[in-house]
Amino acid sequence: MIRSVFRGSGSALPAKVVSNAELSKTVDTSDEWIVERTGIRQRYIAGEDETTSTLAIGAARAALDDAGIDASEIDLIVLATATPDNTFPATATKVQAALGCTGGMAFDVQAVCSGFLYALATADSLLKSGMAKRALVIGAETFSRILDWEDRGTCVLFGDGAGALVIEAEEGEEANRGVIASRLHADGDQHDLLYVDGGPSTTQTVGHLRMKGREVFRHAVVNLSSVLREVIEDAGIAAADIDWVVPHQANARILDATARKLGLPAEKVIVTVDRHANTSAASVPLAFDTARKDGRIKDGDLVMFEAMGGGFTWGASLMRL
Ligand code: UT7
Repeated sequence: MIRSVFRGSGSALPAKVVSNAELSKTVDTSDEWIVERTGIRQRYIAGEDETTSTLAIGAARAALDDAGIDASEIDLIVLATATPDNTFPATATKVQAALGCTGGMAFDVQAVCSGFLYALATADSLLKSGMAKRALVIGAETFSRILDWEDRGTCVLFGDGAGALVIEAEEGEEANRGVIASRLHADGDQHDLLYVDGGPSTTQTVGHLRMKGREVFRHAVVNLSSVLREVIEDAGIAAADIDWVVPHQANARILDATARKLGLPAEKVIVTVDRHANTSAASVPLAFDTARKDGRIKDGDLVMFEAMGGGFTWGASLMRL
């Protein structure tokens, strides 16, 4: 039996931090409103010399260092992003070139905020099928570039960043390590609740993010609790067996509501939305790396990842470190 086992993680953030108070100078909002409705206190915003690929490269290098694995040993890079450097080629190929590991596969996946879950499940499948041995799974975004900075309903919610995991195919009898179970979903009927109003084949512009927040919120809690239950059942565990939930960091209230529905104590939920805001596909690996580096998530822990985003798309994945 082949398992995709965890080897290391890393993350990268832009240099510039923007507080709620700073934002309230340019848009009609307040620190009080943002904190109360979302839990966000600040976000990192990419400067001119920072792009999705530079953040992804930073996170990938940190993950390789953490894993003690040389870039030349990587034969698969799956990068989740909705804000690639260019329409093509895939940002993953830029990462590949920068790391100097041109021997294997490299491609992007696009599932917006669920992108990391889609990337992890894709990499896991490729490792299990024997098509690759060692993978970098990256979530990297510069959502600041697609925000309408005059729309207070969206521009206060997002930030930039990247996170990466190294996973490796391991053959053996031990069934209880690595990626244990994953479920992915999509519902294209919900397009109009969260989308970007531009693109190469429609407007030939990049466009701006548009969101009906209240409706997205409602769907998020329902879809996330349901996919979490599916993965718990697939894995044959009880919710109480989970050591840590690493959720997509969209809104502290969504995290609380989802945990409550599953009867999970709030102390088991990793929350970084206060510092990073919503970094879309980067948010789960960024939160995971933050919690590993601050000593909360440890080797042997049972960790549940979950996310929901534009499309709609949503998914969850259970991994034993
Ligand atoms: O990552 C992909 C998934 N995305 C999400 O999961 C986001 C889900 N949605 C949310 O997190 C929340 O719905 C928001 C944070 C986006 C909004 O919170 P809400 O409690 O649902 O507020 P609302 O949209 O219902 O707006 C309430 C009020 C409105 O004013 P009125 O109409 O009641 O007078 C808004 O105009 O708050 C107003 N408002 C703001 N006020 C100050 C909206 N944005 C702001 C703002 N500052 N930034």
